[in-house]
Amino acid sequence: MGRVHVLNHPLIQHKLTYIRDKNTGTKEFRELVDEVAALMAYEITRDMPLREVEVETPLAKAKCQVLAGKKLGLVPILRAGLGMVDGILKLIPAAKVGHLGMYRDPETLEAVKYYSKMPPDIGERELIVIDPMLATGGSAAAGISVLKEMGAKQIKLMCLIAAQAGIDRVQKEHDDVDIYVAAVDPVLNEKSYIIPGLGDAGDRLFGTK
Ligand code: PRP
Ligand code: URA
Repeated sequence: MGRVHVLNHPLIQHKLTYIRDKNTGTKEFRELVDEVAALMAYEITRDMPLREVEVETPLAKAKCQVLAGKKLGLVPILRAGLGMVDGILKLIPAAKVGHLGMYRDPETLEAVKYYSKMPPDIGERELIVIDPMLATGGSAAAGISVLKEMGAKQIKLMCLIAAQAGIDRVQKEHDDVDIYVAAVDPVLNEKSYIIPGLGDAGDRLFGTK
């Protein structure tokens, strides 16, 4: 079973509070999402493998460590996942980025794929699927299925806020995927929005409402 990691670092929790606040405007919302994404990337990369190298300091030789060069890929789910990409790339600038367009049909609430463009070697990469909201889990679960059909083998899921229903669905359909979230909220409303959540992540990021 994939594990659920709740990243409750004080800086993440502090910034998430202002992200939730309806009085936070588009500019500040975007900046905060970017900052939290970077902080979450710091936590999510804790298990990245290292290898030993030798460098010369001005005084002596030193055995040190660098990243072992594991290939990473970020896969934001459009649109809202885009808001977290730059923050993560600040810490992992060499990661390749694939884009996956999914929308929730407002009637059926099922996720529909409308776009995908991946790096050619996704089967060799550790992928981090990014979406601020994990509500019913439909978009993330369907997105992960698309990636597996394209050959992906190692996938992590990173979200700002998850509802337990979304976590359950992803775990049921993809028991090999670890989930990283800043908060787990109690319920979904009748339109499957996360309560209390933060509202519509895409609209708040892009000012479309
Ligand atoms: C939002 C959000 C997730 C999805 C979560 O996207 O960014 O992708 O809903 O809901 P689910 O877990 O029930 O699938 P939306 O479909 O509103 O598209 P957008 O990002 O283009 O606004
Ligand atoms: N999508 C959002 O943007 N917010 C929610 O609460 C649920 C789905």
